[in-house]
Amino acid sequence: MKILAVETSCDETSAAVIEDGKEILSNIISSQIEFHKKYGGIVPEVASRKHIEVISAVVDDALEEAKTGFKDIGAVAVTYGPGLVGSLLVGLCYAKAVAYSLDVPFIGVNHLEGHLYANFLNSPPFSPSLNKRGGRGVSFPLLNLIVSGGHTQLVLMKDHGTYETLGRTRDDAAGEAYDKVARFLGLGFPGGPVIDKLAKKGNPKAIEFPRAMMGKEYGYDFSFSGIKTAVVYHVKKLGTETFSPGPKLFDVAASFQDAVVDMLVIKTMKAAKDKGVREIALAGGVSANSELRKRLSEEGKKKGLKVHVPPMKLCTDNAAMIGCAAYHQLKRGIKSDLNLAPVANLKI
Ligand code: KG4
Ligand code: ZN
Repeated sequence: MKILAVETSCDETSAAVIEDGKEILSNIISSQIEFHKKYGGIVPEVASRKHIEVISAVVDDALEEAKTGFKDIGAVAVTYGPGLVGSLLVGLCYAKAVAYSLDVPFIGVNHLEGHLYANFLNSPPFSPSLNKRGGRGVSFPLLNLIVSGGHTQLVLMKDHGTYETLGRTRDDAAGEAYDKVARFLGLGFPGGPVIDKLAKKGNPKAIEFPRAMMGKEYGYDFSFSGIKTAVVYHVKKLGTETFSPGPKLFDVAASFQDAVVDMLVIKTMKAAKDKGVREIALAGGVSANSELRKRLSEEGKKKGLKVHVPPMKLCTDNAAMIGCAAYHQLKRGIKSDLNLAPVANLKI
């Protein structure tokens, strides 16, 4: 069965065709990042307008690349939250119209659940030394670390659709911390990829940035606003030369990244141990981070745990993951009404 999936929750317009819940026949992603860069972040009004401009073409491309047409589509899936309401509305209206006109099931998907399903899609292995199966062979119970620009959450998945949130950030999301630190350092937007790149040239142990909320009393919750402030104070103390590319900037990037990755990996490993879980999956935009991918995989290996890391193209927002989540919803008989409304703060 072919599912046409649409994702427009933030600044990527994406459409995909997924076969039997796991084969990616196409996954077209049109990024608007160039239009937002000059503002240092996503401008919601601009985002919705850009989605409207390209959605039809993106869906047409997805069908063409999948060598299929609307007549072969068995269900239509779309993200209905969390995200920017104006952006979500564009995808929702488009997907509803297609589902209605084809008279096929319509499935609203939680964006965060979608990120988890990036690990359930068939895809080529991204690195022979890490997850050889490239997203296949995932089994339950599965501990998911969701790290994106808006969310940081540890979710225990006992089965398809059965989730227990063990912890979440109490302030900024991990990706948000990357974006804010990068903006302060004048490195542009989004901050994750550029800090990741600069960090490779620096010494991760050069500066001892704080690891927040590591005490037992905080459980599996996270906090990333303190480290952002610590970076700002440190850089102000150093003087402006840190802003130009050079060893001091590289050390700040590497030490910041080391602290963020430490917090994420230590808590994830602790949760896995406490809950007796043998499989861990990484999800969300920050799962593209090279150090996080490496450290989580290494720590997992040391403890004999299986760690699933999505291929790069499935880390950031894309419709393939939405189609995969929708397939499993449909299998459980979960469909949506055509009056489904966007939910900006939808929880998992
Ligand atoms: O999942 P996503 O595409 O959108 C949301 O749902 O938020 O995640 C975007 C976030 C941004 O904060 C971006 O800076 C971060 O993912 N990101 C990274 C990397 N690539 C993207 N963070 C750290 N390292 C990266 N390589
Ligand atoms: Zn996302």
